[in-house]
Amino acid sequence: MPIQIVRNDITKMKCDAVVNAANSSLLGGGGVDGAIHRAAGPGLLSACRKLGGCPVGDAKLTKGYGLPSKYVIHTVGPIWQGGSHGEKELLASCYRRSLEIAAEHRFESVAFPLISSGAYGYPKEQALKTAVDTIRDFLMEHELFVYLVIFDRAAYTIGETLFADICRPGSL
Ligand code: AR6
Repeated sequence: MPIQIVRNDITKMKCDAVVNAANSSLLGGGGVDGAIHRAAGPGLLSACRKLGGCPVGDAKLTKGYGLPSKYVIHTVGPIWQGGSHGEKELLASCYRRSLEIAAEHRFESVAFPLISSGAYGYPKEQALKTAVDTIRDFLMEHELFVYLVIFDRAAYTIGETLFADICRPGSL
């Protein structure tokens, strides 16, 4: 199964693409978005300005500029509103659309953060389950190496108890 859960800063990942947990303006923000823009430099914001935003559940591609990864796939997760507002379907759509873009461009490796699980308030355990289920479904029919990058220890520990195939920090 070419999916690995790793504990790392996503801006340090060297892949064909890293996925950004953006907002629908695609013009930057805090969390992963802020870290990616800081590490990529101003070229990324200039490229994002030309994209005209992005709907929730969809994704758009730019180059990676100063990042170790070649490209950034910007996706917009749902804001958690209790779970009965289509959040799970929208979150799954973020992973699927990002993976479709990766497959269209014949990328071999892509790294995701845990979309929506920070500022957007999606419960981390549920966010992780939807991420893994959607990625696994996609990988049944596509050749791609997917890293799920988890930043904080709490989410990492949830991952450890849910999944056996977690990669230890520093083992990449
Ligand atoms: N590497 C990997 N994961 C990280 C990093 C990092 N450098 N930094 C934070 N995380 P968030 P969201 C984890 O808030 O919930 C922005 O302002 C973090 O612990 O980045 O989708 C956008 O512009 C959490 O588990 O994204 C939007 O307005 C996860 O990444 C809004 O936040 C996602 O947290 C999007 O909110």
